[in-house]
Amino acid sequence: MSRERLDWLRHEVERHNRAYYVLDAPEIPDADYDALARELRDLEAAHPEWVEPGSVSARVGAPADPAFGPVRHAEAMLSLDNVFDDEEFDAWSERTCRTLGLASEELLVSVEPKIDGLALSITYRGGELVQAATRGDGEVGEDVTANVRTIAGVPSRIGATGHLEIRGEVYLARSDFGALNERQRQHGERLFANPRNAAAGSLRQKDPAVTAQRPLSFLAYHAVVITGDPVAASQGELVERLAAWGFSTAAETRVVRGVVRVRERTRWLEAHRYDLGYDVDGAVIKVDDLAARERLGSTSRAPRWAIARKFAPEERITTLRAIEVSIGRTGRATPYAVLDPVVVAGSTVSLATLHNEDQVIAKDVRPGERVVVRKAGDVIPEIVRSVVTPGVERPHSWTFPRTCPECGGPLRRLGDESDTYCVNPACPAQLLQQVVHFASRSALDIEGLGEQRVAQLIGAGLVTDVADLFRLRVDDLVGLEGFGEVSARALVEAIAGSRGQPLSRVLVGLGIRHVGPVAARALATWFAHYEDLAGASLEELEAVEGVGPVIALSVYTYVREPDTVARMAALAAAGLTVTEEPVATGGALTGRAVVVTGSVPGYSREGAEGAIIDRGGTSPGSVSRKTFCVVVGDAPGAAKVSRARELGVPLVPAGEFAHLLETGAWRTTLE
Ligand code: IVH
Repeated sequence: MSRERLDWLRHEVERHNRAYYVLDAPEIPDADYDALARELRDLEAAHPEWVEPGSVSARVGAPADPAFGPVRHAEAMLSLDNVFDDEEFDAWSERTCRTLGLASEELLVSVEPKIDGLALSITYRGGELVQAATRGDGEVGEDVTANVRTIAGVPSRIGATGHLEIRGEVYLARSDFGALNERQRQHGERLFANPRNAAAGSLRQKDPAVTAQRPLSFLAYHAVVITGDPVAASQGELVERLAAWGFSTAAETRVVRGVVRVRERTRWLEAHRYDLGYDVDGAVIKVDDLAARERLGSTSRAPRWAIARKFAPEERITTLRAIEVSIGRTGRATPYAVLDPVVVAGSTVSLATLHNEDQVIAKDVRPGERVVVRKAGDVIPEIVRSVVTPGVERPHSWTFPRTCPECGGPLRRLGDESDTYCVNPACPAQLLQQVVHFASRSALDIEGLGEQRVAQLIGAGLVTDVADLFRLRVDDLVGLEGFGEVSARALVEAIAGSRGQPLSRVLVGLGIRHVGPVAARALATWFAHYEDLAGASLEELEAVEGVGPVIALSVYTYVREPDTVARMAALAAAGLTVTEEPVATGGALTGRAVVVTGSVPGYSREGAEGAIIDRGGTSPGSVSRKTFCVVVGDAPGAAKVSRARELGVPLVPAGEFAHLLETGAWRTTLE
């Protein structure tokens, strides 16, 4: 069994190597590839009798493409061994210290970002760039000299004598990648899966003029002296020298002593991985002293003096179980993927949005297939593409349903929008979301009226419009499942208590497009009464501070819709009395900037922001020295948290949010 597994693994690793290195079109995410390679290595370690010379596990990269001339590297271009957690890293550092006769707190290493690009070796003789080559199989690479000469960040002359090879990474900055793919799209050319593939595809062009148009960057991190004087005695010195010669080097590189510092620095890099402007998939930790490196040596695959500490992968493979459609409060039908749960970037993902019909068509993902799921930083999980195995028949493609899964009414695409809508105004799903939104914390703030209860009220025929809420009587509720006399009375009282909410909350509750708590407050302080707002001209609306033309037009149109007029009349008839906007002075957070990261239980993002603004505060999107505190919810943004730590801004747990709103202070902070 394991022999068969071994053969299969060799075959798979070989196949994926080719897809990655030769075709620049990987089929599976790096993390899944790493898992296969690691299983192969472990199996070979457990069965040394099965190890064959030349096994894929002992090799690096893939053979060079004959379209580019072969270049034999003066010194092999090795890969790096990977570690995936602190324990594995500790094992590496113990081994290293043992060989060098050092205690673990004495080891001096450089910690650098592991740039997700492709390795390049540039040969200089007498200071002149004479050749540049890709890694190829580690021994022989591809001659890409003409292409590399077009890269702005590669100096054609450096102040060095002798014969040396400068090694580093060719990559595309994230922003350049976005722009490049946009251009590809406009020209009807194939889109690149990620910045690494785009960089590889751009560097390995037959025509250097094409490479010249691609915004490639190069970061140098290593030098091999073939003849001539040594360039440095340590990695720290080497990086300085490279920079002095005109190469870009990773500004985040730090030389630190001891495993504790290494861990700290690695964690810092992981927390800042989205701030670097280019993709990084780990940290590279290298013994700083170049003489010590000699003593450690290398295996056939990788140096013993360096190790790659991989970060939590952003992409994983899982099975797409089904594509379903959810109906929002405007009737918008959003397709989403139901997935076999998988851990991506540190959290479990089982649902991912597919945005709209065009996206599903563009991605051509089909239920039953394996798909690549991506989650980078704060962003919501996304399906990148299907994993298609050549020769294996694919399941049927998915088609957007023609009828609403909730009410059976027709689904339509309006005009040239990509969104599809349920156009049945009586659709219970739309009504459900409208009422839930109306009652939510940032709107009328009706305690105890969540999605389940609203569904129950609609199901019982008690609510067919938001105005019906104000007509509910205790007797109507008592018979319903889960309602006793006490809970029924509590709900009716909570609804009654919301009758006198200020105008801004009512505006939020109506769900006018583009009008969140901030715009609602601006409008409500300006107009004071709904009637004034409804009667305002477009110019008058635009004149409101904090209201731009988009919001103004949205409000102007909304208040004139017959449905709106009817709804406002119904609300008034049901006893909703909108009160004047209280002036926000003396709130617990007056003049204070509170940043919220991650989700705070019981609040939507907008709701939390609105609550801060209601208390006189502001809620900016980034942390600065002026930030009063950062509220840390579930799945917080690592960058915000570490920035706060750096600046000494207090980190307040989400459980303290209510207390913070009330008092402007907190009782505990996070370490
Ligand atoms: S040092 C002999 N430093 O990662 C030492 N490599 O997975 C060679 N990489 O082949 C590598 N950032 O292409 C080094 N700061 C860095 C790196 C780095 C990215 C790449 C490099 C290497 C691969 C191994």
